Amino acid sequence: MVRVRFWRPAPWLALGAFTLAACGVGAPPPPIQVPIPSSAAEAPTGFDNRSNGTTDDSTHQADQDAFDEVEGIEDGLGPLYNAQTCRECHQDPTSGGASQITELRVGHLGPDGRFQNADIPIARGTVTIAGRTLVNDRAICPNAQFPDSEIQERVPDTENIRTMRASLNLLGDGLVEAVADETLIEIARVQRRTTRGAIRGQALYVPILEAPGVTRIGRFGWKDQHASLLSFSADAYLNEMGFTTRLFPDEVTTLCNAASEPNDTTHADGLADFERFARFVRATKAPARDTVLAATPTARRGSELFDAIGCATCHVRTLVTAAAGTILNGGADTIPPALGEKTFHPFGDYLLHNVGTGDGIVMAMPEHYGPAVYKVLWREFSIDSVGRTRNKMRTAPLWGVRLRPRLMHDAASLTLRDAIVRHRGEASGVSRKFGKLTRSDQAAIIAFLQSL
Ligand code: HEC
Ligand code: HEC
Repeated sequence: MVRVRFWRPAPWLALGAFTLAACGVGAPPPPIQVPIPSSAAEAPTGFDNRSNGTTDDSTHQADQDAFDEVEGIEDGLGPLYNAQTCRECHQDPTSGGASQITELRVGHLGPDGRFQNADIPIARGTVTIAGRTLVNDRAICPNAQFPDSEIQERVPDTENIRTMRASLNLLGDGLVEAVADETLIEIARVQRRTTRGAIRGQALYVPILEAPGVTRIGRFGWKDQHASLLSFSADAYLNEMGFTTRLFPDEVTTLCNAASEPNDTTHADGLADFERFARFVRATKAPARDTVLAATPTARRGSELFDAIGCATCHVRTLVTAAAGTILNGGADTIPPALGEKTFHPFGDYLLHNVGTGDGIVMAMPEHYGPAVYKVLWREFSIDSVGRTRNKMRTAPLWGVRLRPRLMHDAASLTLRDAIVRHRGEASGVSRKFGKLTRSDQAAIIAFLQSL
């Protein structure tokens, strides 16, 4: 493969330049190759429940126990919730993986044509849950203590923009958190430049809740709504399970709520449960490949075709984390040696794209960032940029895709072929190239995906 240097190394990247295969007019977009420092090492992979080295194995096991813990009303569950434990939605093939569970998001357009968060009436219409797009599927009431509290959320006719969102894989996400913003921004720039704007990933600055005022490029969630695993854990603990924490001090509704706030337990080591969840995710190993299938001639051919027709322009093969000691999340974290300068293979760019599958939903500020979002001035956070994500989704990282029978954000594609041919918009050219391949070349790409 011919590699050309097309861009002067920025000062932050003394070690090399992004490279790409030479591409002529009408040629498919090139695979993006992030420069890898020669001192970088490969991150460990596996589904063995062992730590990647950021914590010792017994700490990691204790953190997994917290992640796996089934919580009840007496612990603070609800009032509105989706499940009783993180594991319920993140457990294939082990704790921290993805699952078939989806959740429901809705909203509507306002008179100005802009997206509006949902208004969901509960309690016989006497109370409205606002400021959210998530509709919780479960509620703790009516129950023995509050037999007359009817708080179950349902989608009203007026919330006519509706989607399902699939649960995501968390294994290896500590590596994703440790990627420098500049790397993601540069990928977006290279995509735009090399495809003459046809492919243009959006890098979105989002709040770091544990460092008020600080933002980083979002990389977690279907809309890149978070950049920090601690922020995401607190968001999930409230919105999936109904647990308040110091980052989300308010319940979604106080109706039939008997637990005192915050619900989150702080342990003898000073860590609250949501901090343990984040430490658990940060210490997970990246998903391992199916090395048997990967070694077959068909999968190897598929791997080459995947690059050659332009899939790897968005599904970027290899990323590298910033150096150990780099300050992250506004000083809240420092990259540990186990996560510093590690290469890993997510097959994703963590950027937002319109590939014609957009669900029309803009992320809800108070839902994801808590009440503080309007009280703090977040550097580089722009409501207009968030608005532009309405019909974009984060490139689905393909590591571990063989373990996901239901594909795409809405889990509506049931075969890899269906998921590929659904790509339109920014991916139209690439998707057309896939369509023009012979049946056996298409099968080779699918065999390759089944090895991931
Ligand atoms: C009811 C199912 C459900 C439960 C319970 C749940 N999650 Fe999730 N999780 C999801 C879904 C769905 C997404 C994708 C959300 C989106 O972007 O709309 C997700 C995304 C995530 C992500 C982002 C991963 C990535 O790579 O983008 C993290 C981190 C996460 N969850 C952590 C947690 C933690 C920690 C808990 C327990 C407090 C938890 N989740 C509980 C369903 C769930
Ligand atoms: C312009 C960027 C872009 C290109 C090019 C692209 N994809 Fe995607 N891909 C995405 C996005 C964005 C999603 C998520 C879309 C959604 O969920 O609605 C996705 C989702 C997928 C999924 C579903 C994964 C899952 O976990 O649900 C597969 C499989 C996939 N892509 C394979 C491919 C293949 C194969 C190619 C080349 C033929 C390709 N993609 C080209 C951006 C891209």
